Amino acid sequence: MCGISGYIGNKDAYPIIINGLKRLEYRGYDSAGVLMYDGAEINLSKTKGKVSALEEITNKDPKRKEGNIGIGHTRWATHGVPNDLNSHPHLSQSGDLAIVHNGIIENYDTLRKELISRGYTFQSDTDTEVLVNLIEEVKKQEKCKLGKAVQMALTQVTGAYAIAVFDKKKPNEIVVAKLGSPIAIGIGKNNKEFFIASDASPFIEFTKNAVYLEDEEMAIIKLGRDIRVRKIMNDLQIETSIQELQLSLEQIEKGGYDHFMIKEIHEQPKAIIDTYRGRMLADQGIIKMAGVDDNLEKFLNAERIIIVACGTSWHAGLVGEYLFEDMARIPVEVEYASEFRYRNPIISSKDIVIAISQSGETADTLAAIKLAKSKGAFVFGVCNVVGSSIARETDAGAYTHAGPEIGVASTKAFTTQITVLSLIALKLAKAKGTLSNSAFHTYLQKMQLIPSKVEKLLQLDEKVKEIARVYKDAKNCLYLGRGFNFPVALEGALKLKEISYIHAEGYPAAEMKHGPIALIDENMPIFVIATNKGHYDKVVSNIQEIKSRSGKIIAIVTEGDVTVKEIADHVIEIPETEEALTPLLTTIPFQLLSYHIAVMLDKNVDQPRNLAKSVTVE
Ligand code: M6R
Repeated sequence: MCGISGYIGNKDAYPIIINGLKRLEYRGYDSAGVLMYDGAEINLSKTKGKVSALEEITNKDPKRKEGNIGIGHTRWATHGVPNDLNSHPHLSQSGDLAIVHNGIIENYDTLRKELISRGYTFQSDTDTEVLVNLIEEVKKQEKCKLGKAVQMALTQVTGAYAIAVFDKKKPNEIVVAKLGSPIAIGIGKNNKEFFIASDASPFIEFTKNAVYLEDEEMAIIKLGRDIRVRKIMNDLQIETSIQELQLSLEQIEKGGYDHFMIKEIHEQPKAIIDTYRGRMLADQGIIKMAGVDDNLEKFLNAERIIIVACGTSWHAGLVGEYLFEDMARIPVEVEYASEFRYRNPIISSKDIVIAISQSGETADTLAAIKLAKSKGAFVFGVCNVVGSSIARETDAGAYTHAGPEIGVASTKAFTTQITVLSLIALKLAKAKGTLSNSAFHTYLQKMQLIPSKVEKLLQLDEKVKEIARVYKDAKNCLYLGRGFNFPVALEGALKLKEISYIHAEGYPAAEMKHGPIALIDENMPIFVIATNKGHYDKVVSNIQEIKSRSGKIIAIVTEGDVTVKEIADHVIEIPETEEALTPLLTTIPFQLLSYHIAVMLDKNVDQPRNLAKSVTVE
């Protein structure tokens, strides 16, 4: 996935575009580029590396920054290695047209051969350069305007795209289009300026009004004129819907923290409150969730819930499985969206599919949703990004309200996803009568206390940092948990590997003796969740087994624990809560630990190598 940032108006476009690209670097950061039009000439600057590398180039030659119109890009490579030539924007053969693109043109090879036979040559290995030349060829053949040429070219394309196209000969307009990848248009006062971006963060300080294109839509953005949105396939003009943005600048800045990840870890108490605020009325013993209330019969009659997700969201889905089955007694299957979409799964109209995604843009999850819908299942989304593709594609849903998550490693997304899933499970359990009234009320009271307990855990930062210092040079780590905390073990291991590049594996504690126990020696740190409820004695036995093989034990226990404290090398205490809610607490020390290890190892915490915040390609 990649980030697109563009501007057309009366301000200097360069700083707006560059700041926008920096905010979008979570989408990809292996190369960057910007094209400026200064009223007479195009100035194209692009390079392998981050936006800061691009700035080094433009700072040496201020002419590269001139103009009131431009398009920029930060890339996560798909076709062609990250290098200067493959960086966007790409120019057409004549040099008149320029494009930035997020997505993949699947039939690019056929199109490329066709264009080569018509005399086109290519400078890069990208599918994007094929697209801009296809648009140029259509424009030439049809003798039409840019908008029409873009529309006609896109009808020949299979794949996914969000694009912004500029024509030097029509320098007061930019054409944008979307299929599968997001694009938002910020609208300035009286249409005197427009902002184009992959999400609204690049233009939040300039306007609160935005249009989000839907799939197969395109728009011609022209100064002084209302935006016109058309359907790509049949050229029909459709009504433009302008949304008022809720995002604030403060929400997307680091606010004094060194990294977004640690800021987002610390935001969790508030994020959890924001997630249940207005939904969980603990005093009245009610959970109100419009997406569930409106479809309650469907939920109650569901023969099965299938949860589809990827990465951290999949781990939250596993917690969901434990919650739904334990509380509401509904059978649940949790599927990697990438497997589900291709394995010809059995899905029926009696199934409810819950798709979980922070970004709401993950390609595999989106494809799994489309498959489930085509088989007649009711699809419910749990997303963080408002207005995202998954939020729009699902039949109903619940937002997590975590606020923007910029760090590539998911933290507050995970805890707020679990919060939403807990609310749904409790609500269904109450409606089905599978949980007693008193248990239901207890859960609500205990849930209300979770944010202050997370706050308390965050104060253990120094202690966790000390543990991080001891184990930062480990080559391999094992994470063990049982029941509700098995998914937390998986998530702990994922956090460590993705930002510190230390190999880590998560396992159900009892599975250790079926293989991983062979790995244990005096060099192996093993992080074990041993909270006082749910299989405590059995996990203590596992800890003994580790100890007798000289493994280093870092245990997460409940406050007041005595037994594990005597055996483990380090313990971190979490406050007491209901077993089903412990994942909201046990995950916090693991997040802090991964963060500190990555910082100590001097890794790029917010933008780990090879990763992108959301994976909008297969
Ligand atoms: O945006 P999504 O929740 O759909 O993203 C799914 C995964 O790509 C994501 O959780 C990924 O595993 C994170 N980097 C984990 O920290």
